Amino acid sequence: MWGVHGRAAFLAEEVGAERVVLFDGMDPTAEFSAEHARRGSAVRYVQGDLHDELGVADLGVFDVVWCTGVIYHSPNPYQLIEHLRRLTSEHLVLGTLLIPEVPFLPGACLFLPGLPRPVRDAFASCLPHSAPILCGLTTDFDYTPELGYANCWWGITTTALSSMLEIAAFETLEENAGSAFWVDLIAVPTQRPSVIPSTSFSRQRGKDRLTAYTEKSRRTWA
Ligand SMILES: C[S@@+](CC[C@H](N)C(=O)[O-])C[C@H]1O[C@@H](n2cnc3c(N)ncnc32)[C@H](O)[C@@H]1O
Repeated sequence: MWGVHGRAAFLAEEVGAERVVLFDGMDPTAEFSAEHARRGSAVRYVQGDLHDELGVADLGVFDVVWCTGVIYHSPNPYQLIEHLRRLTSEHLVLGTLLIPEVPFLPGACLFLPGLPRPVRDAFASCLPHSAPILCGLTTDFDYTPELGYANCWWGITTTALSSMLEIAAFETLEENAGSAFWVDLIAVPTQRPSVIPSTSFSRQRGKDRLTAYTEKSRRTWA
């Protein structure tokens, strides 16, 4: 939604996608609403959080999922990639900010909150002049809770991103590294089983144990 006002969603509809959902945490922008009305568009806007397992499950599954400029805005980028996997049946189009590789440390990521000012400034000086302001990277981290995901949380290297995609059951088909700081890629789902238990797994086991225990005592005292 931010900055592009649903452009990719409208384009998908224009080229014949049967069902288009724009999912974003922000309120719809005036520009989005005006364009939606002008086109008589059937694009459905769903406001939600990509971290939210239930919200993601409600969306269903899509042939193509386009997610650009989002995962580094999360304290939990791997979780977002897992959720993108749940949404994707054929192709994921992912664009994301990167940081250059760290010598001798493949798979490294950099936790950006609290990064010293000189390091932040060094990043800012390497980014192309056309780059937008990146809250939490080129500016100080903003700790206002409502602005949580406006910040950049993680600097992710290409090697870390590749591993995250692989573990979350994606295979990268094509990738276009715009610079050391950005990549656009296309990935397809693989059948690799998820390594992360559902967040309800332990709660459900606890409930099952309680039910079994209650059932046993009921039988004992019956
Ligand atoms: C930098 S903008 C990118 C906009 C557009 N996709 C693009 O590539 O230009 C990040 C967008 O992701 C949304 N966003 C960030 N974190 C999110 C989350 N956890 N759940 C849903 N939307 C999120 C923001 O509201 C914002 O619209």
